Amino acid sequence: MKVLITGGAGFIGSHNTAALLNRGDQVVCLDNFNDYYNPERKRKNVSGFLDDIDYRLYEGDIRARERLEEVFAKEKPDKVIHVAAMAGVRPSIERPLLYEEVNVKGTLNMLEAARRHRVTNFLFASSSSVYGGQEKVPFSEDDPIAHPISPYAATKAAGELLCHTYHHLYGLNITCLRFFTVYGPKGRPDMAPYLFTRWVFEGAELKMFGDGTTSRDYTYIDDIVSGVVAALDADLSYEIINLGNSQTVVLRDFIALVEKLVGKKANIVQLPMQPGDVPRTWADISKARCLLGYDPQTPFEEGMKHFVAWYRQEVLAEQAELKLWGL
Ligand SMILES: NC(=O)c1ccc[n+]([C@@H]2O[C@H](COP(=O)([O-])OP(=O)(O)OC[C@H]3O[C@@H](n4cnc5c(N)ncnc54)[C@H](O)[C@@H]3O)[C@@H](O)[C@H]2O)c1
Repeated sequence: MKVLITGGAGFIGSHNTAALLNRGDQVVCLDNFNDYYNPERKRKNVSGFLDDIDYRLYEGDIRARERLEEVFAKEKPDKVIHVAAMAGVRPSIERPLLYEEVNVKGTLNMLEAARRHRVTNFLFASSSSVYGGQEKVPFSEDDPIAHPISPYAATKAAGELLCHTYHHLYGLNITCLRFFTVYGPKGRPDMAPYLFTRWVFEGAELKMFGDGTTSRDYTYIDDIVSGVVAALDADLSYEIINLGNSQTVVLRDFIALVEKLVGKKANIVQLPMQPGDVPRTWADISKARCLLGYDPQTPFEEGMKHFVAWYRQEVLAEQAELKLWGL
């Protein structure tokens, strides 16, 4: 099977690529290597795949319809995993138009190309942020999502609506997967697991937004990948499915865990909650269990152990090498 992964050089996309290549699928990656974070990290993420005959890399932008047409016509993918997006809640408040262009128009371009080229299954990377500041927990797929509180969340909700429209009009199989805060090796440098680890290692100020009582459902990357692959194989007609760990972690406890794993005290500076930040997330994953056999295996402490080990091995070692060269 040939799978087109948009955003395949990023955190989640590159882990999915590895899983599909490992089981013998062909993977076509389309990514624009933007500088939302250091594109060198994305180059590194794909470097191990480049010699694989089952792997093709296209640099390109999902906003460029001709480029999409070229990739679809040449590669004829059977299925699509559409994870390319401007991710990140706070930057979406600074650059709402860019988020709309990439996350909404880009998704519409992908849906158009997918239906014209008759792909048999289309996965859309949605987000727990669509639930907004909802108080009812855990969050379940039937809960209303009419009150997003950031442009990012609104673009993901809009993407889901477009997905439904394309399923309805063209019978395209589509599954929207709502990811709940994903972390692990190669994790995004703008997210809390990476930032907290970095700040504690460096002895820098650790910015804690709010009083430390907010909570998140953190999901380890391997568990997310298992859910994505299951959804890819399931060929469901149209579904929205939460992929989370269904365990919440309180911010203060999270910081204490990072201190324990790094072996240093955090220099915590408390700041007000940021606009766009939700107070809690918590996934009801019964639908994923039922439809996909999804069964997350990684407790937060174990996942963070893997992450901090990766951070020591990759990030700290790289920094030490640059220092050695006087760079
Ligand atoms: N990481 C999380 O916790 C999380 C949670 C919920 C949803 N998501 C969603 O999952 C997806 C992947 O997230 P990630 O954490 O791997 O982010 P990431 O930034 O590491 O990966 C996104 C990739 O998409 C590429 N990209 C961005 N705009 C593009 C464009 N216009 N054309 C082509 N490629 C483009 C980027 O270069 C990057 O490699 C995103 O859609 C994100 O919104 C992530």
